[in-house]
Amino acid sequence: LKFVCLSNDGVDEHMVWLIGLKNIFARQLPNMPKEYIVRLVMDRNHKSVMVIRRNQVVGGITYRPYVSQKFGEIAFCAITADEQVKGYGTRLMNHLKQHARDVDGLTHFLTYADNNAVGYFTKQGFTKEIHLEKDRWQGYVTNIRSILKIAKVFYSYLLEIMTRYFSFFILVSCKYIKDYDGGILMECKIDPKLPYTD
Ligand code: ACO
Repeated sequence: LKFVCLSNDGVDEHMVWLIGLKNIFARQLPNMPKEYIVRLVMDRNHKSVMVIRRNQVVGGITYRPYVSQKFGEIAFCAITADEQVKGYGTRLMNHLKQHARDVDGLTHFLTYADNNAVGYFTKQGFTKEIHLEKDRWQGYVTNIRSILKIAKVFYSYLLEIMTRYFSFFILVSCKYIKDYDGGILMECKIDPKLPYTD
């Protein structure tokens, strides 16, 4: 078992792991558009901390370090279905904190946590109260959930028009409407001294 932190650097083995991680995110975060997942996981400004077992990805966290602002935004976090609630998520987060502090020089993390993952993030030291000064993060954090919300409003408007005119299309398109999870902004302060990993 090993923990690695890397970004899209063109190394074959790393690409295989990043694709494995992208597939886990796509399965575990069904409300996230797949293209958006691929784009961020493969984006060179993002890094991914991964748990690798027997050369297979078990799970990971993709984040974007904003080095000058000293905070990181966690975009995605997931563990493959049959390995959840075995402690991998906690160990992963500890490796992330250690790396972000010692390598990127970050002091905080922000994330939009899915409602059902708030319990996990709370256990990892995240709070709903944001202490980080707004001018340090506002304009940086991408609120994909807000974008999805706008898209949903637009979609329901479209749907209404369609209901009036093409009820057949409704039946077909309903299959593609996925309800999304609101998500809530959470923050975590990284301890400046604590050894997070052994
Ligand atoms: N709700 C409440 N508590 C949870 C949840 C949850 N969804 N998941 C884990 N926990 C708890 C565990 O019970 C455990 O508590 P304990 O320390 O008291 O025993 C603690 O959190 C840590 O559990 P781990 O085993 O380390 O967590 P796991 O390996 O399962 O990873 C994760 C947690 C990443 C949320 C995983 O369950 C998962 O992939 N879920 C599906 C995808 C998901 O929801 N991802 C987060 C979306 S938000 C985002 O990506 C920004």
